[in-house]
Amino acid sequence: MARLKTAVLISGRGSNLQALLDACAEPAFPAEIALVVSNVAGAYGLTRAERAGVPTLVIDHKGFDGRAAFDQAVDQAIRAAGCEAVCLAGFMRLLTPDFVAGWHGRMLNVHPSLLPAFKGLHTHERALEAGVRLHGCSVHFVTADLDAGPIVAQAAVPVLRGDTPDDLGARVLVQEHRIYPLALRLLAEGRLRLSGGVVEIDDATRAPESALVNPAP
Ligand code: GRF
Repeated sequence: MARLKTAVLISGRGSNLQALLDACAEPAFPAEIALVVSNVAGAYGLTRAERAGVPTLVIDHKGFDGRAAFDQAVDQAIRAAGCEAVCLAGFMRLLTPDFVAGWHGRMLNVHPSLLPAFKGLHTHERALEAGVRLHGCSVHFVTADLDAGPIVAQAAVPVLRGDTPDDLGARVLVQEHRIYPLALRLLAEGRLRLSGGVVEIDDATRAPESALVNPAP
């Protein structure tokens, strides 16, 4: 079986990249990471990729005259590497509509909130300020609007008394590392269908019926 050649775009520590690398290390996993691109030289994720024997490339946005030129360079590099899908994993750049259109239905992002709540930055601080009892993470298709694309997978965690943003973020991150490989697997298996702005999953394993209730009843 041909594995889906995937590019991962990063800007930083790359713990989600690591989760994807670990999943792809399984011979039966239907995707492989063919290239890791960072817009930041020295991003720790580059070291993770090198350790896994995956080619890396630094494309520093500061060396380009505008967003479109940077995006074109990234697009060229990932196509030259034969990639057929893209995973954004802590990639801290907004992408141009042209780039996004070129990867329609083939580009995923992981976001640290239960979308559509808390799009954008500082999600854990904002969840604590809002007093939500459940928080979590989402993997979604990337569209031109920030954090607004069709949702593929989500995981919910409780917000606990005394949580700091870091506590909550760490609890969420564990779940990001679970759902990102799951979403990439579903994409690679061709089981995701976009239909009217929502995702339909062929033969999805049903989530358990029981709900996560916080505080416990
Ligand atoms: C994650 O929380 C992800 O959801 C967000 O940026 C963070 C990246 O972390 N988009 P890492 O670089 O994958 O460790």
